[in-house]
Parts: sequence; structure tokens; C-alpha cells
Amino acid sequence: MDAHLRTWEGEELIVRRDEPTGAMIVLAIHDTTLGPGAGGARMKSYPDFDAAVTDALRLSAGMTVKNAIAGMPLGGAKTVIAIPDGLGAEDRAGLLRRFGRLVRQLGGRYYTGPDVGTTSDDMVLVAEAGRPYVFALPETHGGAGNSGPATALGVFSAMQAAHAHVFGTPSLAGVRVLVQGAGNVGGPLIERLLAAGAEVLVSDVDPAAISRWHLGRDLPLVRPEEVPGTPCTIYAPCALGGVLNESTIPRLRCAIVAGGANNQLATPADMDRLQARGITYVPDVLANAGGVTWIAGVEVLGWSVEEAERRVRGLAEQVTDVLRTAEREGISTDAAVRRLARAKLSPAALAGAPG
Ligand code: PHE
Repeated sequence: MDAHLRTWEGEELIVRRDEPTGAMIVLAIHDTTLGPGAGGARMKSYPDFDAAVTDALRLSAGMTVKNAIAGMPLGGAKTVIAIPDGLGAEDRAGLLRRFGRLVRQLGGRYYTGPDVGTTSDDMVLVAEAGRPYVFALPETHGGAGNSGPATALGVFSAMQAAHAHVFGTPSLAGVRVLVQGAGNVGGPLIERLLAAGAEVLVSDVDPAAISRWHLGRDLPLVRPEEVPGTPCTIYAPCALGGVLNESTIPRLRCAIVAGGANNQLATPADMDRLQARGITYVPDVLANAGGVTWIAGVEVLGWSVEEAERRVRGLAEQVTDVLRTAEREGISTDAAVRRLARAKLSPAALAGAPG
């Protein structure tokens, strides 16, 4: 954590212990150059406090890049709520309500929303006190609703662009795609891939998640520990982060990595490892930017659903741009996407920005 805090270039780190549950709320506001810090609230248990803070710091920095490349008037932030194991539903609801009070106290410096472990419905509880600083409330509550399908559409569009870059055609018909995590993003992604004629392989630590999206079809299942060694054209990490690491990268048997999970690279060195293996990596903050494009497009910029969908599909152009820039300049795709974000955060770009 120490090392991460020392290299973190963020603005504000708030840590609050939730007395009634013992949960720790870690809220990191990374950069507010383009607007209030925005990023979802991730709720899960962590091995220790250190891991929770480290996750919040890294995720908040990722949101700065993501919101900038998505073209949103939003900065980067994230909340990690580290919960004790076996937290009951009532305690959880109370915790979400108290988190809403914290959001309210920040008075608009931070906008929250769902992330891993929280849902659009949970935001109703957060919004009791946290309104109007809560994104992605259910449509019945005037929000943009679940962003999972939009995130999946963005990942799908990113895959098409990456496939076109590497193999010359955006068509995914007959292309073998391994989706790791059949949840809120992975599930709708599987649907899209099947509709496009792809050959889909699925893996999930939770068998119930797979059966939910299985819908009677016979999708080949891959055991979690066999994910890295399974041959596929596109590998889509759609569960938790850190899956691209020292031990998995040498075993990967794919041409492209493009998925919905945040923080897919365990460390910056893992980008070099992917590059050395000749694997095309679509940076996670770009592949999964469909979620925030949808949420903020509809709720902040007032886009229609059709317009928001068009913009999410449009992420494909940025993917192409990043892959070409990386190739042309001999830099990593991660460096290329950061450069794109930096350009949007630069004084010159801001001077020319509308409003
Ligand atoms: N948690 C999602 C993400 O990482 C969606 C989200 C974005 C939620 C911005 C709130 C604010 O992109």
C-alpha cells in the first residue's frame, strides 16, 4: 500500500470505518480536472485493509483515464467498500445508506454508481441520502439503469475493432472467444457473441452464474484454473482484476485480450509481458468504457438511448486508434491509451473544450 500511495497521483483519499458493520469505506478521488470524480462503488471482502486501499487507488486512476477517453465531463474516482464475510442483507442495506451520507457530505466532488458487488437497485438505498450524486439508478427511479448490457456492447465493439486490426475483418463469426465471468457484463456479452456467430467458451467460479446465461445452450465450460491455457482467438476477462500476471501470461493461448474487468494487468510489467508474447491487449479502461458512456451520456449529457448506443459502438474507433498508435510508435497499447487521455487533460485541450 505504501508503494502505491507514494506513486498515486490522486487528490484525496477518504477512509471511513462503518461502525455498525465494521466495514471499511475507502473513497479515492484521483483527478477532478474534467469534472467531479466519478466511479462506482465496489463492495467485496478483501484479504486485508492494504489490499482494499491499493484497489481503490488503482481503480480511481483508471477512472480518470476512462472518463477522459469516453469524452465525459467527469474526473476519476472510485469507492471500495471492504465488507466482513457473511454480512447480512439488513446490515448491508444500512451500510449502503450510510455510504450515501458520505457521498452527500462530499457535496458533489464525487459521483458514485454500481460496480462489482453493487447493483443499480442498491443505488436506490445510496440515493436516499446521496442524491443527486448517484449514477445509474433504476429507470423506475429516473436513472439510466443497469449499465451491464451497455458495457458488454462496448466490449463487443472493442473486440470487433481489435479483430479487424489483427485479422483484417471485424466479423466475429466462427471466432473462438473465451469469456471469463458470466455476470452483469459477461452475461450480455455472451448473448451478443452468440448472436454474431462466435464460438463461445465460458468460465465462472460460480456455476449458478453460468446456468443463468446458459439458457439451455450447450456452451463449453472451462474450469477457472484452465482459463489461461485454453486456446482461443479472443480472451475476455469479465470478472475481477489481476488476471494478466506473471503466472498466467506465459500460458495464454490467445491472439487478443479484450474484456470488461477493471485492472486486468496485475502490474505495469505485465503489459511488457503481453507485448513480448505478441498478444494484442485492448486496455481495460477502453474496452469497458461503454458503461460510463451509457450512464453519463444519458444522465449528464441527456442523450437518447439510441444516441448512447451509437456512442458506445463508437468506442471501436478509439480502439482502432489506440492499436494503430501503439504499432506505429512502438509503444504499448496501455501507453497509447494513457497518452490519449493525457491529451484530453492537457491545458490546450481544456482551453478548446466547450463550456
Ligand atoms: N463501475 C463502472 C465502471 O467502472 C460504471 C460506472 C462508471 C459507475 C462511472 C459509476 C460511475 O466503469
